[in-house]
Parts: sequence; C-alpha cells; structure tokens
Amino acid sequence: MPSPTTATSPATKVLLTGASSGIGAALATELCRRGHHVWLGARRVDKLQGLVEVIGAAGGTAHAVTIDVTDHVACAATIVALDQACGGFDVVIANAGVGGRHTSVWRTTPQDAKEVIDTNLTGALATILPLLPLMRARGRGHVVGMSSLAADLTQPMAAVYGASKSALTYFLDSVAPELEQKGIAVTIVHPGFVKSEMTSKNTFPMPFLVDTDVAARVIADAIVGRRAWLRFPLPLSMTMGVANLLPRSWRARLVAGGAAK
Ligand SMILES: NC(=O)c1ccc[n+]([C@@H]2O[C@H](COP(=O)([O-])OP(=O)(O)OC[C@H]3O[C@@H](n4cnc5c(N)ncnc54)[C@H](OP(=O)(O)O)[C@@H]3O)[C@@H](O)[C@H]2O)c1
Repeated sequence: MPSPTTATSPATKVLLTGASSGIGAALATELCRRGHHVWLGARRVDKLQGLVEVIGAAGGTAHAVTIDVTDHVACAATIVALDQACGGFDVVIANAGVGGRHTSVWRTTPQDAKEVIDTNLTGALATILPLLPLMRARGRGHVVGMSSLAADLTQPMAAVYGASKSALTYFLDSVAPELEQKGIAVTIVHPGFVKSEMTSKNTFPMPFLVDTDVAARVIADAIVGRRAWLRFPLPLSMTMGVANLLPRSWRARLVAGGAAK
C-alpha cells in the first residue's frame, strides 16, 4: 500500500511524460508507491493503460493520457485541460525523449536533428511552459526536466542528442531564478546510462549502467527533496568532470565509443 505524502496533506499530483517505458515507467511506479497521484503521458496508450492497472493493483493511483510532445499545440492544450480537470498539478516531469542516431556528423541530416530537438527540447518546453502561468497563479509548483549527463561532456557521435539535452539544461537553469521567485521549484536531472528501451539499442560500452528501478528511486528522492540538480551515478559524473579538464583531442579519444546517452 502506498504511504501518503504526509499524514495530513493531500497526495501530490504529478504529470509525467514518457511514462510508457524505461525511466518514466519506473519513476511513475515509484512515485505512486510513495502515495503520489501520477498522470502518465506518452503515445503508446496501451502501455500506459497496462501500467495504470499494475499501479492500481498495488494500491496506487495513476491515469493514462495520450500525449505526443512533438504535436506542440495539442500537447499544450491537453496539459492545460488536464490541469483544470485535476485541480492543478503540483509537479510536472518532462521526461519524454528520443535518443536519435548515434552517428558521425557526415551522416547527420537536418531531419535527424528536427526529430530529436522537436521531442527533447521543444517537446519538453511544450510540456512545461503551458503550466507555468497556472503554477504562478497558485504561487507554487515544481518543474523537473530529464536532461542527461551527455549535457556535461561533449562526446563524438552524439552531437544532436547532446545538443538537445544541453539546450534543455540551459533553458531550465536559465529560468529557475525567475520561477523560484514565484514559488516554483526547478529540478534538473542528469542521468548517466540507465537500462531502458533507449539504451537497449546501444552497441557501445555503457560504463556504470544503472538499473531502471534504482534510477527511479534516486530521481524520486531528488524530486521529493526539491533538489536543484541531480547527477548520477556519481563515478560517471566525476569521471566526466575530470575529462572536461582535458584538451578536446584527448577527451575525444577518451570517450570515443562510449558516448553517454
Ligand atoms: N536511459 C538512459 O541512459 C538515459 C540517460 C540520460 C537521459 N535519459 C533520458 O531519460 C528520458 C527517458 O528515456 P528512457 O531511457 O527511459 O528511454 P525509453 O524507454 O525509450 O523511454 C522514452 C519515453 O519517451 C516517450 N516518448 C518518446 N517520444 C515521445 C513523444 N513524441 N511524445 C510523448 N512521449 C514520447 C516514449 O513513449 P512513447 O513511445 O509511447 O510515446 C517513452 O515513454 C529521455 O528523455 C532520455 O533522453 C535517458
């Protein structure tokens, strides 16, 4: 049975995109286990319905919502309507993302870039921005962005993905002071390699690969603690910090073949 957020407060209402698999599905399960009510957004609604049933059978509360974050207008309209219907989200987690092609610049096309940026950057903004005026009016809220350790260290073969995550991190870090003035917290999450549908396609080494459930617990702790930043796992994050001190040519050799997702 889930334990309530506190003995007296109502359950936190959470909107989570990218909840049909991987980190999102595990995070939804973990948040519901802790007593939060989670609206699960993604395109594969059959997977969301299955997860809603599993969560419900364990005593949790979740709702499935079809959201395509690349349909920016419809995404925003759906989220505003959901916010009104549920009485206002306390937390929004922009987690939906695609990995794009792990490939050389010589094989990168503008269409590759559009798909990844439309999802990972503009899709995240289409999830977050419509809720900000509503959270501001309530004087409280919490925005969580699922970026990546890829934003911390430039890697070969991951240019478009890394650019999309760097941009998301920049955006969230840039707006955080304005939002915090209005009572809206911002948490930026930089995971390393986590087991998921996305990473199951990778053919390169993934150092310090983290189990999905472990990642979900670590991320849930950061959200509940309203932490500004979460970077994990620590050994990979620290290695990247050191690698960043190296000249570009050394760094490229060091991370070649092991670019973080
Ligand atoms: N796994 C890692 O190592 C890792 C590391 C750092 C950051 N991340 C980030 O973590 C997030 C989750 O990734 P994951 O690893 O859990 O991969 P995943 O299992 O492939 O999950 C991606 C999720 O995003 C959803 N999604 C993709 N395009 C969407 C769209 N247009 N509209 C709505 N939802 C969409 C997918 O749902 P549908 O296909 O059903 O729409 C799915 O639920 C991503 O932002 C990823 O970049 C992952």
